[in-house]
Amino acid sequence: ALPRDLEGRRVVVSAGGTREPLDPVRYLGNRSSGKQGYALARTAVQRGATVTLVSAATVALPEVAGAELVRAGTAEELRSAMHEAAKGADILVMAAAVADFRPTERAEYKIKKTDHDPRPIALTRNPDILAELVEARAEGQVIVGFAAETGDDSGDVLEHARAKLKRKGCDLLVVNAVGEGKAFETEDNAGWLLSADGSERAVELGSKSYMASDIWDAVVAFIEA
Ligand code: C5P
Repeated sequence: ALPRDLEGRRVVVSAGGTREPLDPVRYLGNRSSGKQGYALARTAVQRGATVTLVSAATVALPEVAGAELVRAGTAEELRSAMHEAAKGADILVMAAAVADFRPTERAEYKIKKTDHDPRPIALTRNPDILAELVEARAEGQVIVGFAAETGDDSGDVLEHARAKLKRKGCDLLVVNAVGEGKAFETEDNAGWLLSADGSERAVELGSKSYMASDIWDAVVAFIEA
């Protein structure tokens, strides 16, 4: 049986990938499946938490029984949903893959190939939601960020990740080594958990629900430290 060590805690998890519309039928998106975020929400429910799952686009996934589901399509929608859900929450987990940029213009009607010659898509930077949540953080609120890092060796990946943890100001950073059989579009995940108190641990390649348990263990350890 799982420990009920999140009993009485209010948890918000974002999951999936945002879609940034170009017109009513097209968008800029990413390969996030949402599986890691959904596994985190499911495990949190099982460990006794009250859970809000803020879900951007995912592959077809079973609903998380016992969690409140809030849907968010774009980064802007995910931003409002997270700020709203963050009120009174004890733990925020930003597992969603948020687009860094959105098309500057969103056409009201489907863009036709006869409308104009090929041209670049103008982009506007999206806000960093994680950084905003850290900025607005309530006393004692624990904030977990994610980093998908590509790199040739783990030393490289960890260097980047340590810098990101500092820059983002969150309490824990889940670092996924992106590559063959890991992270995006897969069942399995591996990586590292970095804590603002300086502790670091590796998570061996395993299922996303296994990784979810490790993440919650690290969150509970952080709270109790
Ligand atoms: O800087 P980078 O995109 O690698 O950071 C990833 C972390 O920041 C993830 O937790 C992601 O959910 C969050 N993020 C965000 N808003 C963005 C981009 C990333 O909250 N616009």
